Amino acid sequence: MATDKLGLDFTASLPETVQAFNEAMDDYMLFSGEPVGKLLTIAEIDPDFAMGYCLTGCLRLFGGVSSVHPRINLELRAAKARRSRVTLREQAHIDAFEMAAGGELCAAGQMWDAILTEFPHDMMAAKCAHEAYYLVGETVRMRQSVQNILPAWDDSIPYYGFLLGMGAFGLEEAGDYRKAEDMGRRAVEIEPHDCWAVHAVAHVLQMEERFDEGIDWLESTNRNWDGATWLRGHLWWHQCLPLIENGKIDRVIQIFDDHISDCDQDMVTRLNDCTSLLWRLELKGIDVEDRWDRLVDMWSVDIIDHAFAVAGAHLAMTLVSAGGEKKLGRFLESQHAYIEGENNTNSEIIETIGRDLCLGLIAYRRAEYDKAASLMAPVKDQIYRIGGSNAQRNLFQLTLQAAVEKVAH
Ligand SMILES: [Fe+2]
Repeated sequence: MATDKLGLDFTASLPETVQAFNEAMDDYMLFSGEPVGKLLTIAEIDPDFAMGYCLTGCLRLFGGVSSVHPRINLELRAAKARRSRVTLREQAHIDAFEMAAGGELCAAGQMWDAILTEFPHDMMAAKCAHEAYYLVGETVRMRQSVQNILPAWDDSIPYYGFLLGMGAFGLEEAGDYRKAEDMGRRAVEIEPHDCWAVHAVAHVLQMEERFDEGIDWLESTNRNWDGATWLRGHLWWHQCLPLIENGKIDRVIQIFDDHISDCDQDMVTRLNDCTSLLWRLELKGIDVEDRWDRLVDMWSVDIIDHAFAVAGAHLAMTLVSAGGEKKLGRFLESQHAYIEGENNTNSEIIETIGRDLCLGLIAYRRAEYDKAASLMAPVKDQIYRIGGSNAQRNLFQLTLQAAVEKVAH
């Protein structure tokens, strides 16, 4: 029996397996590297490495890959096939992964939290719970998940700074800005490359409308997060929000072209940022020229994918803005089929909130403001359930507000 970086018993039949797992977790903390590739290389030759498949599957899910994607099923089957050979803690990870893959992210988060009650240093469980709650708007659980285990941690334990970064983001989303900012800044002192902690502080500054401080914060930390492949585009997006408020539109366009739109088709969370920024600019009356046309080509592979309601809403915005009526029709049809064919919390969220939100956003872009307002107003207090952050979802409130104002005039 091996032990991982945090001293937890770890099932592996090859000596290099635990090293690969530790390195993948380091990558995960830093939003960089290729953790999936590292894990799969070893998982394919180590017959005991169930945790490898759990982590690759979860990384894909959290990155926006649909739970019905064949890769997720393959990895879930591989993890389950190894179940009898691994510890009870690792078995619990397999069960939580299966729950998440079934479209039940909140329930999965609670299963990772249950692992943490016995193993509070299980950073993979903490991180998975954090992400799962984030993706379904479970703010209170996201905050509490870290708060519950913090007493068991101190700065002698690896990843302590990263845990503070997660704690800061949970506090921020729950509206506890003072504690969030203190914890986030402390996390960055401990781990300057903790881009999630940098991100938590950026959220506080945005929510408190401290726009100049927000710009300075991200500029002054840029060298520590610009190499974080999986988050850098989102931090540039955050940089743009206060710049828009300060009227620095040329700079925003330049950042979009140089740092945000340079993502590929697999990066759904980054595509969300692209869409969100262009939509925000248009709400301000800015002409974004042909940028929707370029963006829609990157999104198109995900038309029949309904991993998360928040991604669906951003895809609908992109399709209607680019004027691809045929693709938009296909998206709406497949969304309808997904709602009819699935029976889980994710499909329920899309059915009860995501669908009307999409239709409302489409109506807004078509200048059908009355229809937009009547579709979006009834769901506005439930929009948090589609996941993402308060700052991301603020776009929908701004759109509804704009629709209502246009109807009134
Ligand atoms: Fe954010």
